[in-house]
Amino acid sequence: MKRLVIIGASGHGKVIADIALLLGYDQVDFLDDNSNKKKVGEYVVLGKSTLASQLASLGCDFIVGIGNAEIRERIQKEIEEDGCNIVTLIHPNAMIAHNAIIGKGSVVMAGAVINTGTVIGDGCIINTCCSVGQDNRIGNFSHISVGAHTAGEVLVGSRSWLGIGVIVTSNVSICDDCMLGAGTVVVNNICDSGTYVGAPAKKIK
Ligand SMILES: CC(C)(COP(=O)(O)OP(=O)(O)OC[C@H]1O[C@@H](n2cnc3c(N)ncnc32)[C@H](O)[C@@H]1OP(=O)(O)O)[C@@H](O)C(=O)NCCC(=O)NCCS
Repeated sequence: MKRLVIIGASGHGKVIADIALLLGYDQVDFLDDNSNKKKVGEYVVLGKSTLASQLASLGCDFIVGIGNAEIRERIQKEIEEDGCNIVTLIHPNAMIAHNAIIGKGSVVMAGAVINTGTVIGDGCIINTCCSVGQDNRIGNFSHISVGAHTAGEVLVGSRSWLGIGVIVTSNVSICDDCMLGAGTVVVNNICDSGTYVGAPAKKIK
């Protein structure tokens, strides 16, 4: 029996659970460090993330379904050290170039397109109906939100979050730890970590 444990009982986790069922998992359970969370949708929250190593010994697969990049990175690294098998999940209706590389713990949602030559790091979220252009490098634990689009040869650092509907033109680099607000249009390199909004993108924090 194929069993997946998702850490992070949230709406994002529920979307991951749906992908897991489409990919042939027989059972999906959740862990969450908030002990008030007992269920998410039809799924049961078994307990805190400290249960992961026990479940690993039963042969479960794992993925971290937490939106916050720093927490996602910390937990993924912790459970990996505890011997958990971290998987990469790709929705059957995502379109992935034959030579694209997608790292461990990353999830690719329905309708997403990842073009040729692109490398997606570990623990990334490639969200619903976004597109990642050709020869992009998306750093570890970054998130390309719903409907965001990057043109060709875009570089995104680690733990950066491109919000819903963001547009990035070709050959642009975005450094680590950036938040690009909903609808931001990036036409120049972003070299300072922080929060950016608007068209063209301006730093607000
Ligand atoms: C950018 C963002 C993170 C800022 O949130 P915040 O730190 O709480 O900032 P605030 O809401 O206090 O906004 C600060 C200012 O920026 C403006 N602003 C915020 N987001 C903006 C956006 N996306 N575009 C243009 N202006 C924006 C606000 O109007 C406010 O302007 P003011 O100071 O003139 O009133 C948030 O607004 C955002 O866009 N989040 C996107 C989330 C997302 O894409 N989720 C999708 C998941 S799939």
